[in-house]
Amino acid sequence: MYYKVCIALNYNFELKKMVLIDGKETSNQIKEEIAVEVTQIVASGNKAPHLAAVLVGEDGASQTYVNAKVKACEKVGFESTLVQMSSTTSETELLTKIDELNNSDVDGYIVQLPLPKHIDEHKVLLAIDPIKDVDGFHPENVGRMALGLPTYLPATPYGILMMLERYNIETEGKSCVVMGRSHIVGSPMSILMSRNTNPGNSTVTMVHSRTKNLKEITTQADILIVGIGKPEFVTADMVKEGATVIDVGIHRLPSELTRSGFKLFGDVKFDEVSEKCHAISPVPGGVGPMTIASLLKNTLIAAQRRE
Ligand code: GUN
Repeated sequence: MYYKVCIALNYNFELKKMVLIDGKETSNQIKEEIAVEVTQIVASGNKAPHLAAVLVGEDGASQTYVNAKVKACEKVGFESTLVQMSSTTSETELLTKIDELNNSDVDGYIVQLPLPKHIDEHKVLLAIDPIKDVDGFHPENVGRMALGLPTYLPATPYGILMMLERYNIETEGKSCVVMGRSHIVGSPMSILMSRNTNPGNSTVTMVHSRTKNLKEITTQADILIVGIGKPEFVTADMVKEGATVIDVGIHRLPSELTRSGFKLFGDVKFDEVSEKCHAISPVPGGVGPMTIASLLKNTLIAAQRRE
């Protein structure tokens, strides 16, 4: 009996200690900081930063993301341009538009991915002027990031670094496991967490779909960053007690629990994992809003380079 009470107390204590990494709140703080800088830029007689977003096709999720990016621009006082192109746009037409943007007065722009299958993504990314590549996807900027030279950090990993920093999550000397090896998240994330910076200086292991002893590796992680694109894949038994868990996944799935008939899920089974870890980012309201805040930060840097 006495033993059970102790466990319950300990359990409650652990629950109280769990830190919810609130990406929405943090991104709002960052947006407020950016808005102050924009006011100063404009007050000193300069043009407000200008972000353009190119969307090819009618993919619903991409439309939602791009609209959110444009709306965020308004909130901080940026100018924004949405370039909407049909799904039948040819590669040549898109490259012509990119050439136009390279020579326009926009400070930075993004081409929303994925692109329709008939367009070569690498050719498109290579055509973006690295100075205006606020997604940090141009090979020159990827190389600069890997070498630790000044550049635009890709939005999702940059957002995660800011979350870790603002929530004082210690990363130096810690074991960080990155799940997923995409060019947008896993690959740059693993490089950034191993760099000699703060956040960073972690001992990084990257796991992916061909990794055999997955659980053995993930249960060693002090920091677990999950971007594998599988709803609720990470369960409590895959997580070390007291770990920090960052969930990059976002899946809109049918659900009887909501009026819309849909609910958003991450790559992590939040309810059971949150009981075990020190800190966790939720879905929605975690990494997603931070990605937008990072893009705004990169656009601000692009505008400051122009001044
Ligand atoms: N598709 C998913 N994430 C991203 C992103 O960060 N940038 C762009 N351009 N496309 C994406």
